[in-house]
Amino acid sequence: MAVSWSLETHETLDSTQARAKELAAQSAQEGTCVQALAQNSGHGRHGREWVSPRGNLYLSFILRPKCEIRDMPQLSLVTALALAAVINHDDLTLKWPNDILIGGKKCAGILLEREGDALIVGVGVNTKSAPEGAACVDVKRDQFLDQFDIFYQSWLAGGFAKIRAQWLEKSYAPGTKMSVKNGSHIIQGAFIGLDSTGNLLLEREGEIKIISAGEIHCC
Ligand code: BTN
Repeated sequence: MAVSWSLETHETLDSTQARAKELAAQSAQEGTCVQALAQNSGHGRHGREWVSPRGNLYLSFILRPKCEIRDMPQLSLVTALALAAVINHDDLTLKWPNDILIGGKKCAGILLEREGDALIVGVGVNTKSAPEGAACVDVKRDQFLDQFDIFYQSWLAGGFAKIRAQWLEKSYAPGTKMSVKNGSHIIQGAFIGLDSTGNLLLEREGEIKIISAGEIHCC
């Protein structure tokens, strides 16, 4: 059944993510979606600041998928596909696990966080302004939520295999050299793809490395 979106919009919040977590802790339903026109303390992965001036898109929404916790990170790829469908740009690349690039520059980021048995999906898109080195794209909230629902229903009904194939079509070419940093640990190798659960696969000196978390840098 399609997600029934229930929208809460604010002029300014510290973080839509924090507000959505608060609502999830109060048993808010799947589809509860918080938007702020600006954020004072927007944050991204690894606790980084997400600069959030007025004019860009800042959303966090609650999902309550009946799935194994270990499969929840796949929803980052589901979300990335929905953004890619709305952005619809020839020079778009999906960067594992949660970035959307245009012309090699980041234009949107996705943050997944758990609150009890709910998953909070945070989405930040540079629609009006971007930090230096980043890109801007046109994404309308409602178009994104419609697309998200299409890919989410596909994932719920059919599992990860189709999402994985669609995501790989929009990611780096196999063989692309990259390094993945996880804390102080860095692994270098050639991109092979994703395994059947969503882990990144790199090949190095004939050995396949399975990577479940980290940050990619292309060499
Ligand atoms: C990343 O690329 O590290 C993820 C960035 C996620 C930013 C969004 S903006 C809406 C929501 N509220 C936050 O504080 N963060 C997410």
